[in-house]
Amino acid sequence: MSTTPVDNNNARAPVTVSTLRHMKEQGEKIAMLTAYDASFAAVLDAAGVDVVLVGDSLGMVIQGHDTTVPVTIDDVVYHTRCVAARAGHMLVMADMPFMSFRDPAHALDNATRLMQEGGAHMVKLEGAVLDVVAALAGQGIPVCGHLGLQPQSIHKLGGYRVQGRGNEAAAAMREDALRMQDAGADVILLECVPVDVAREISGALDVPTIGIGAGVHCDGQVLVLQDLLGITPGRRPRFSQDFLSDVATPGGIPAAIARYVVAVKDGSFPGDEHSFS
Ligand code: KIV
Repeated sequence: MSTTPVDNNNARAPVTVSTLRHMKEQGEKIAMLTAYDASFAAVLDAAGVDVVLVGDSLGMVIQGHDTTVPVTIDDVVYHTRCVAARAGHMLVMADMPFMSFRDPAHALDNATRLMQEGGAHMVKLEGAVLDVVAALAGQGIPVCGHLGLQPQSIHKLGGYRVQGRGNEAAAAMREDALRMQDAGADVILLECVPVDVAREISGALDVPTIGIGAGVHCDGQVLVLQDLLGITPGRRPRFSQDFLSDVATPGGIPAAIARYVVAVKDGSFPGDEHSFS
C-alpha cells in the first residue's frame, strides 16, 4: 500500500524532500527514472514514478556522445525545462554536469539556473564535494550526492567499474556518505556499488539512498529510461532491465514504465542478476 501523503481529494500529492524522507521511514521504495522531454515526463508521472532525473546521461542517449563529459549546463537547463513542463507530481532532479560545480560560488550560480530557468526541485552532483553541498544546502537548495561510480570521471577511472569493493574502499564510501548527509545532502545516489556496501550505507543514513547497480537494499532505484525501454545505445548495462520486451504483456511504453514502478515498489527489481558482490 502506498504511504505517499495524499491531498484531501485523495489525489497524489507532489513529491517533496519530506515525502522522500517519509517513504524511507515507512519502508516504501522510491521509484526514480530519467527523462529528457515533456512527453516522457507525462508518461512517467502517470505511471507513478516519484522522482524524475534529468541526468547528464542525456549526453549519451540524446546527443550520441560516448560519455557524459561534453554535456553543458545549458543542455541540462533546456532538458529540465522540457521535463518540468509535464512533470506533474514528480520531484524534478537535475544533474549538475561536468565542471559545473568547480567551487561553491560556481555551483550556486549553476544550481540557480537549473531551478529558476529549468524548474528543478533538486540538483545532483558527483563526488564527495562537501563544501559545495554545504553552500547549496545553506541557500535552501535540495541536493542529491552521487557516490560510487562517477561517470564524469571516466577518463580518470579508465572504465565503468564497480566501486567500493574491499573493506577500506567500503569504509571510505560509508564515511563520504555520512559526511555528505552532515553537509546537508537530502538524498545519496549510489552507482555500481556492491550490494552489502549499499545496504550498510542505506542503514547508516537518515536520508534516503537511491541505487543503480547497488542492489535491492537501497531506499529507491533509478534507471536510465532508454535502458528500461531496450534502446540503449551500445551494450545495455548488467544492472538494468528491459521492461518493454522482457515481458510479453500489452500496453507498450506506459505499461513498461508502470511495471518498473511496481517492481521497484515490491522489491522484485533489482534482482541478484542486476547486482554486484
Ligand atoms: O545521468 C544519469 O542518468 C545518472 C544516472 C545514471 C543515475 O546519473
